[in-house]
Amino acid sequence: MTAQIISGTEIAKQIREEIKQEVAELKEKHNVVPGLVTVLVGEDPASQVYVGQKEKTSAALGIYSERHDLPADTSEADLLALIDKLNKDPKIHGILVQLPLPKHINETNVLFAIDPKKDVDGFHPVNVGKLMIGEPDYLPCTPHGIQQLLMRSGIETDGAEVVVVGRSNIVGKPIANILLQKQKGANATVTICHTHTRDISFHTKRADIIIAAAGKANAITADMVKEGVVIIDVGVNEIGKTAEGKRILVGDVDFEGVKEKARAITPVPGGVGPMTITMLMLNTLRAAKIKAGLI
Ligand code: GUN
Repeated sequence: MTAQIISGTEIAKQIREEIKQEVAELKEKHNVVPGLVTVLVGEDPASQVYVGQKEKTSAALGIYSERHDLPADTSEADLLALIDKLNKDPKIHGILVQLPLPKHINETNVLFAIDPKKDVDGFHPVNVGKLMIGEPDYLPCTPHGIQQLLMRSGIETDGAEVVVVGRSNIVGKPIANILLQKQKGANATVTICHTHTRDISFHTKRADIIIAAAGKANAITADMVKEGVVIIDVGVNEIGKTAEGKRILVGDVDFEGVKEKARAITPVPGGVGPMTITMLMLNTLRAAKIKAGLI
């Protein structure tokens, strides 16, 4: 079987065009410019790249963006004070605090402090709860991007056996929640596997769709999947550097082996990655529309 390669780069491009048009319309008809702020604490190089991409994409789509880079030794109180200020800033519709935070800052306290209406990550417990009961305001960006990849590639989730590998609050738990909702692009039977699962292969071998979000290279190999499976690879693992010092990144799936059995598969890079930022832009647009009373 030759697997269909699901291009997140292409699908993200389409969605960005749609967002760009809507942003222009919002400005023209209602004089509203969506505003996004990103807050980065410390100098983690990967986080710096992500935050830079968010600024660049905002600018390309006509979204106002602001960036706060804080030193690694910023106190929790100072970070909470900044969030309080941003909660009250009328230019800002979406607040994103880049994770992970330095160890001395309590992540839960920070996520709880963001106004749920500006929580474009969908990480505040109010938004997590709203998703759980099928009434979401903001879907978390990576899981929402995964759902869009499936829908826009014509992959049916209704009644499908979906196995999610990984139970993080950012990907594993919310994608499971999204795909089990009673609605279009969902209605799946979902299993979540994790580090304490007795036999992951037992589950992955009967999956129609596998969502690999384990954070480990080669977590999913060809012997663990059935013919015709659909694979969404969320992993970004650095396995070394090139002679020029460039990071070599791979997903959680042994792409070369698994693609021989799969019906469709996402590459790394160029799969889930470009979708995450795109969905953040969509949530920022949505936040601006909610604030303007348009939805
Ligand atoms: N770090 C890795 N993924 C994410 C994300 O989706 N949002 C935030 N805020 N931080 C992250």
